Order: sequence, then structure tokens, then C-alpha cells
Amino acid sequence: MIVSGSTSQAFAAALADATGRDLAAVEYDRFPDGELQATLTDYAADHAVVVGSTVSSDAHVELLQLQDAVREAGAAEVTTVLPYMGYARQDRAFTEGEPVSARAVARAVSTGTDRVLTVNPHETAVCDFFTVPAEPVDAAARLAEPLPGDLSDPLFLSPDEGAVDLAATTRDAHGRGDLDYFEKERDYDTGTVTVEPSDAAVAGRDVVLVDDIVATGSTMAEAIDVLTDRDAARVFVTCVHPMLAADARTKLERAGTTAIFGTDTIERPVSTVSAAPSVAEHL
Ligand code: R5P
Repeated sequence: MIVSGSTSQAFAAALADATGRDLAAVEYDRFPDGELQATLTDYAADHAVVVGSTVSSDAHVELLQLQDAVREAGAAEVTTVLPYMGYARQDRAFTEGEPVSARAVARAVSTGTDRVLTVNPHETAVCDFFTVPAEPVDAAARLAEPLPGDLSDPLFLSPDEGAVDLAATTRDAHGRGDLDYFEKERDYDTGTVTVEPSDAAVAGRDVVLVDDIVATGSTMAEAIDVLTDRDAARVFVTCVHPMLAADARTKLERAGTTAIFGTDTIERPVSTVSAAPSVAEHL
């Protein structure tokens, strides 16, 4: 049975659909002091698939509660799906005294499950932090689905080298187009992002930007600015995880993006395609 956290209800429904499993009934409530209380109100299965994007500290706690609740309800096997794994980008201590937060949360999640699947973690190495078998799931091919079929001489471009494999996967799923990447630098004091353009010709071409996540939107906005200066035709922003924190959406619109497409690993208005079928292949 699929058991959904409050942050991943659309994803969980799509996963139930893709796997033919039933969706458990869950109520999300709070005690008067603000503590969370997730309760299974209709659950009966040996294998529980607990699904929750840990987009907040509350979502982390809720996931742990649901893992515990399914065991209480008799599940003999628990698989945990993290459509989006929060804290995954804190995968090392960047300065003395910092925790490796990804490891801390991975250990906590591992205590309540037999196996973990997580969609496009920032680095697949975070899977090693779990103390149970954990696998990354690549959903980048899904990003090709909402793209128009009439792309003109398309270029699939990642705003940094680390995401070029995702851009390649999206391009391959679309079926045609060139591939390139920008070199990115971020000033962590100011938050400013600069990208060093490749020498790819973009004038008059449709460009599909592909990244794992849009968080503040600074990376994509900078890439759009550069592409606009170089007379690109349409610029589509695509990402697996549309976090779109704070004013990110406004930044992208002001930069002049043609459209933004993300998956439902983080449920936002731009989540036009589901990553659930990619996860279903691993269940
Ligand atoms: C970084 O390497 C990631 O792939 C993304 O490019 C980055 O996290 C995006 O962040 P933001 O939207 O804040 O620029």
C-alpha cells in the first residue's frame, strides 16, 4: 500500500496509479502544542511504501511518524520513497563545526525502513549515508514530456557541468537536439551567480535549460540573461525539483523564460509532469 506524507499527495497518487497499489488513508493533524500527528485511518498491507518529500523539518518528522505507524499497523516490509530529499545539498561539512546534515537525516530515515528510493539527489553519493539499501532514481527523461514538439534547432543546456548528464537524458528523451553546459560560479557571501558561456551558437535557437533543482532561481535567471543577450529564441526552464523558494518564480519570469516545467517531487504550480513512473520502475 502507498502511504503518503502531506507534502507528496499528488506524487503518491500517481505512484499508486503507476504500480496498481492502493493508497492508504492518512490524516495529518497537530496537537495543541503544535507537534505533528500523522494517523493512518485505513491501512492493511504487508508492504508499505511510505512517500514523503522532506521539504521542511515538519515533513521530516511526519515521514518518521508514518514509518512508525505502518509498522504498528503490521507492515512487515517498509520502502521509503523520498521524491525530494531535503538537506541533501549539505553533504559535507563546509566549515569547521558544521554537521553533515544529509548524513544525519539519512540515518534517521534509515531507522524506520528496509529500503530507500530517492529521485535525483544532488549527488548520488548521499545514498551511501543511509544505513539500509538506498538507490537514486533518475527522472530527467520525464522533463521532455511537456516540451513543445516544434522546438527550433534545440540546444539542451545545463547551467553547470554537474547537470550535463541530466540535460543529455532529457535531450535523448526528446529525441533530437545539441547538448552543452555553462560553467557556474557562486559567491556564497552575496548569493550572486555568474555563468561562463560555452561557445555554443544560440542565436535564433530554442534552448532548454535543465538542472536538478531550481532553488533561489539565481542560477537559471543568470543563464537566461546570458542566452537572451546572445539572441536565443525561446528559453525553457526545466528541473526535476521545482523548489522555487522565495522570489525565484518572479526572477525567472522577469528574466524572460518562455515556460517553466518541473516534476511533482516538489508539488508546485509548474509541476507539469510526474516523476512517479520513474520510481515505479524501481519498486
Ligand atoms: C547546484 O549545483 C544545483 O545543481 C543547482 O544549480 C542549484 O542548487 C540551483 O540553485 P539556485 O536556484 O539557488 O541558483
